[in-house]
Amino acid sequence: MTTAATTEHGFDGIRACVFDAYGTLLDVNSAARRCEDALGGGWETLAATWRAKQLEYTWLRSLMGDYADFERVTGDALDYALERHGVIGEGLRDRLMALYRQLDAYGDAAACLGTLRGRGLNTAILSNGSPAMLDAAVAGAGLAPHLDAVLSVDPLRVYKPHPSVYQLACDRFGVMPEAILFVSANGWDAGGAARFGFRVAWLNRAGFPAERLPAAPAAVVDSLSAIPDLLPA
Ligand code: 2OP
Repeated sequence: MTTAATTEHGFDGIRACVFDAYGTLLDVNSAARRCEDALGGGWETLAATWRAKQLEYTWLRSLMGDYADFERVTGDALDYALERHGVIGEGLRDRLMALYRQLDAYGDAAACLGTLRGRGLNTAILSNGSPAMLDAAVAGAGLAPHLDAVLSVDPLRVYKPHPSVYQLACDRFGVMPEAILFVSANGWDAGGAARFGFRVAWLNRAGFPAERLPAAPAAVVDSLSAIPDLLPA
């Protein structure tokens, strides 16, 4: 599913394709899924609460001006989720946190990045993840050979969708916002990137409703494999 918006807004003049990491290239649910032996069928509920609380803490800490890195925020969110759902298990927390550093990449991620680079485009990750988390996850997922840069919010000590985060990609590649195609599966991130000035493709795998935010993505796709087709051949 690619919306007609693609033809209306065009994606000519793109110099770099920048991707969100968690939820977009990396499957955030794969950590809890791999612990189904210990979690049983409740792994999905735990994963959902864990992710929701992780993001909530990034937004709240940014608004409070009290930054802690994504490793800390992810651990705090996991502690909340484990308590919320009454999940106990010796070493389970450490196991889940270790798995979060080795999340599965989505099956079409490497091919998408490789195709874009084959067309002479720069590729990058721009993520809330801490540098150490991203280095481990990108290496573990086998994505490092397909990326020109891995950019973390950490030096800024503020999280997405603050505009200074998106500016990191412009600074890295020396281009204006409209020369960057930004891809995120997180509708709020896609909206923040569009508000900043990127050309944005929202990877709406689940068919969620459009966000009610000040700016909208130029295209909506349902798989990473659809991304190269947005660009002029
Ligand atoms: C990321 O920044 C939004 O968590 C997502 O990778």
